Amino acid sequence: MTHEIAVIPGDGIGQEVTPAAVDVLEAVDADFDFVEGDAGDAVKEATGEALPAETRELAADADATLFGAAGETAADVILPLRDVVGSFANVRPARSYPGLDAVQPDTDLVFIRENTEGVYAGIEAEIDDGVRTLTRVITEDASREIAEFGFRYAKRNGFENVTIAHKANVMRETDGLFLEAAQAVGDSFDIDYDTALMDALAMHLVMRPEEYDVVICPNLAGDMLSDLAAGLVGGLGLLPSANVGEDNALFEPVHGSAPDIAGQGVANPSAMILSAAMLLDHLDYADEAAAVREAVEGVLADGPRTPDLGGDASADDVTAAVVDRL
Ligand code: NAI
Ligand code: MG
Repeated sequence: MTHEIAVIPGDGIGQEVTPAAVDVLEAVDADFDFVEGDAGDAVKEATGEALPAETRELAADADATLFGAAGETAADVILPLRDVVGSFANVRPARSYPGLDAVQPDTDLVFIRENTEGVYAGIEAEIDDGVRTLTRVITEDASREIAEFGFRYAKRNGFENVTIAHKANVMRETDGLFLEAAQAVGDSFDIDYDTALMDALAMHLVMRPEEYDVVICPNLAGDMLSDLAAGLVGGLGLLPSANVGEDNALFEPVHGSAPDIAGQGVANPSAMILSAAMLLDHLDYADEAAAVREAVEGVLADGPRTPDLGGDASADDVTAAVVDRL
């Protein structure tokens, strides 16, 4: 069966790493039709709109979407795109790789981040001169859904521990509800779980990441803790992610458009290629997904490597090496 994949490279290094992921998807034994759409700063400059209606439709109609990164308009692109695919869960695995220098070489954990509300609900106001507010939205439904997704994910992938991150001692109403809903879900699963205050959790993740498997987080906490974990394993060039909904999904690296290195051809394509591996898993190409991961791991261990990992190879060299292994 042919799957239609919407491809939205976006800005900066999104333009460099997205073709790498497409090359890899073309190299595996799967039947894909790629349709490309524009989004981001450049298209906003040209048309006034960061996410044109045609691109929105491409993502809505496709079986899955690959998104690179947007620049300054990121929030105007990725938040609506996550909405278009009905995504409520953001899956962000962070693991260290053999042979790579990492702050914490025993890291292997997955953040399950609530993706629709919290402080990213977009409710901000200027209530007086020099006074601005933001409304943090937490609902019982979204909290239960993300917890159910997280516990199911842990079970399906053979993880033994789930941690629920929160700050209910201060945000008593909002995180009180998040925690209560997530704990109720946890109690209904046959799996060990713990709860952790998110600030202390940040410290524990730096010192003892090996103690954690699946971490279920409210929106902003998941965003920040996953970047922190990227630092533990070798940088943002390594972290893929999936935005999963009921019957659609979007795959993107955790990183942004990286204007500091854009245009040089030296961006690490691994995060984007590993996002494509998550897409393969999502569309039930489990063997192909495993093959892509193995190929990336091999290249990370033996090179060639991009400058963020201490090498001097280009994104194209790394992609060619991954395709070669496939
Ligand atoms: P960033 O993720 O673009 O870059 C942070 C640092 O990591 C930079 O030093 C960059 O060179 C490095 N880096 C990131 N990806 C890399 C890769 N694949 N290979 C090698 N090095 C890599 O985050 P930053 O600098 O905070 O934001 C830059 C722009 O990206 C901003 O305009 C921001 O709005 C946007 N952004 C977009 C996102 C999205 O589209 N989902 C997510 C995060 C930021
Ligand atoms: Mg982020």
